[in-house]
Amino acid sequence: MSKLLEVENLKMHFPVKGGVLMRQRGLVKAVDGVSFFIRPGETLGLVGESGCGKSTLGKAIVRLYDPSAGKVVFDGQDITKLGQGSLRPLRQGFQMMFQDPAESLNSRFSVAQVIREPLDIQKLGSVADRDAKVRELVEAVGLPASSVDKYPSELSGGQRQRVGVARAIALNPRLIVLDEPVSALDVSVQSQVLNLLVELQEKLDLAYLFIAHDLAVVKHISDRVAVMYLGKIVEVASSEEIYKNPKHAYTKALLSAIPQTDPERQGQRIKLEGEVPSPIDPPAGSAFGHRIKHPRYEETIGMDLALVEIAPDHWVAADPCCLSEEDWEKAQELM
Ligand SMILES: Nc1ncnc2c1ncn2[C@@H]1O[C@H](COP(=O)(O)OP(=O)(O)OP(=O)(O)O)[C@@H](O)[C@H]1O
Ligand SMILES: [Mg+2]
Repeated sequence: MSKLLEVENLKMHFPVKGGVLMRQRGLVKAVDGVSFFIRPGETLGLVGESGCGKSTLGKAIVRLYDPSAGKVVFDGQDITKLGQGSLRPLRQGFQMMFQDPAESLNSRFSVAQVIREPLDIQKLGSVADRDAKVRELVEAVGLPASSVDKYPSELSGGQRQRVGVARAIALNPRLIVLDEPVSALDVSVQSQVLNLLVELQEKLDLAYLFIAHDLAVVKHISDRVAVMYLGKIVEVASSEEIYKNPKHAYTKALLSAIPQTDPERQGQRIKLEGEVPSPIDPPAGSAFGHRIKHPRYEETIGMDLALVEIAPDHWVAADPCCLSEEDWEKAQELM
C-alpha cells in the first residue's frame, strides 16, 4: 500500500515574546508530535475545535512554515528541511487552499491572473499555453468563461472558491490541503463545491487533506478521519468506523455535537464545555482528561499517550481518561 504523504512526529512550535526587551517567554505548541499518512487519491479528513492546530499542521506540511521537529515525506522525498529554492519544483505536487477565498486571493488580480500565477511562477509553457490552460481550468471548475476578466470581489462566495480550486489544481498536484474549503459558504453552495472537489479528485487522482471544524461535513467526503485535540491527533480510523465506533472521549464529544437523526444515538450527548486551552502551557498529562476533569488525570502526567491500533486500521491515543475501561485494558496490552 503506497503512501503519498508521510508525516512523522511533526512539531510546529512558535516562540512567544513579550516585555520591553521582547525576550522569548514561552512556546506555543500549536502542533506537538503528529504522525499520519495519506495514500494516493485518498481523502483524509482532519477535525477538531477552533485552535487545536489544524491550519498550522496544514501549513507545516506544505512548507509554508519550517517545522520545528519531525519529518514530512512527500512521494518518497523528505521535504522537511529543503530550502525554498529546492522546494519550488516540488511544490507542483502539493498545494494548499484556504477557507476565505476573498482573503486568500489577491484583490488586485483578475480571476485570470489569480489562476495563472502558479503557472507563471513555475514558468510552464509559453504565454499562449498559459492562457489556454487558464481557460481550461475555468471550465473545469464550472465557472463561466466571462469570469476570467472579473475581479474576485465581483464574484459570489461559491464562485470565488471555484477560483481557489482552479488555482490549486493548475499545476496538476497530487495532494491538496483544503483548509475549511466550504466553511464560509451557505449550506446550499457548500454541497456544490464539495461535489466539484469529489469530481476533480476522481478525474485527476488527487489526494486531499480536508480540514473542517465539524465531523458532519467531513463524513461524506473522507475515506479516513483524523481527530485532533490541542496539537495532537487522538484518533484515526476509516470514516465509517469513526462514526459507528468512536473510541476516544473527544471524538465522542465532537460526534454528539452533530444533530442526530439516528434514535439510538440521541440521548448519548456529551457536552463540550469551554474552549480548547492555550497551547502555550498545555496540561502535562492528558489534555482532554484535564478539560473534563477526569479523576484519573494525575495518572497520565508523564505517561506516553501514543496512538495504538485498537482495531484493524483504527488508531487511538492510549489514554485512561479518554477510553472505556475495556478499551484502556486493550490499549495497555498494545503499548
Ligand atoms: N504564527 C503563529 N504564532 C503563534 N501562535 C500561533 C501562530 N499560528 C497559530 N498559532 C496558535 O496555534 C494554535 C493553533 O492554531 P490554528 O490556527 O492552527 O488552529 P485551527 O485548528 O486551525 O483553528 P480554527 O479551527 O479556528 O481555524 C492557536 O492557539 C493559535 O493561536
Ligand atoms: Mg484553521
